Amino acid sequence: MKVREEVLRLLMEEGTLSGGKTAEKLGVSRTAVWKAVEELRREGIAIGSVPGGGYRLEDRNRVLSADAVRAFLGPDTGVDVIFAGSRVDSTNAEALRRLGDGAAPPFVVIAGEQTRGRGRRGRTFYSPRGGLYMTAALPGIFPVTALTGLTAHAALCVCFALEEIAGLSPGIKWINDIFLDGKKIAGILTEADVDAESGDAGHIRVGIGINTGFGEAPEECPGMAFLEIPALRPALAARIAADVAAYDPERGPDTKAYESRSVTLGRRVRLLSGGREYEGLAVGVDKNGALILDEGGRKIVLLSGDMVREVTP
Ligand code: BTN
Repeated sequence: MKVREEVLRLLMEEGTLSGGKTAEKLGVSRTAVWKAVEELRREGIAIGSVPGGGYRLEDRNRVLSADAVRAFLGPDTGVDVIFAGSRVDSTNAEALRRLGDGAAPPFVVIAGEQTRGRGRRGRTFYSPRGGLYMTAALPGIFPVTALTGLTAHAALCVCFALEEIAGLSPGIKWINDIFLDGKKIAGILTEADVDAESGDAGHIRVGIGINTGFGEAPEECPGMAFLEIPALRPALAARIAADVAAYDPERGPDTKAYESRSVTLGRRVRLLSGGREYEGLAVGVDKNGALILDEGGRKIVLLSGDMVREVTP
């Protein structure tokens, strides 16, 4: 890890650092620490000086940058981090543009606000400032049927990160919604370029939006909640990006871990899939991430679908 990233990570963890002690801790000279701070300042990160040769991060909550994320990303992930700016139209759109320009996956595009955040089925994803909006672009070609499993895996990665970094206990509403106390806190939109003849999917983009900021649910999405944890965005982004990029389409998602967090299983649900409506008891999730419904004793396996409503609690 570069000295700059180490210094930023320490600043984010501790708020204030002594130049001398930091140099000792990192095994570098005080000048190297000073140079790292200067580089970070040039990137726009507000770092003040404290008497006696120390440094203070002025607003820990506002730091979302490629370096801030890299500081939490292990050296072996191979995931490149691209900061799309504090504001972008959509990180999924930006990831596609980068892929079109020849950027090599795996990489993750991060932003702190989206002006045209996209949700599933052409819906808008409300993306105010302070949120975490990220898209992991993955290498390789997947069979298109593996994309549901990838979305299920990404939902789990979001849960793991929120559990371990923020101490929360979120649940998953099949397939891509993350809930906390009955309110939606995050969503996932997986997109890819699909070859209709072979059924192969490439240029895979896993878009994840988490309501880490402060705010109130807009009228059009009353069931949304805000976590008020913007300071945790770099650590969350790094953990999620590394875990999503490690997806193995052969193995599929960890169905046990997924099922144990599911808020859908055990409920009677009504779903729209492939132009048809299905109603039944949600009984499981298979290795492709598909929902298994019991429709009056007949098992139905749905790879995609839009929840019309939960029929019973
Ligand atoms: C949904 O809830 O329907 C899915 C929401 C997915 C939102 C994320 S935010 C980052 C990425 N960029 C987008 O435009 N959408 C996804």
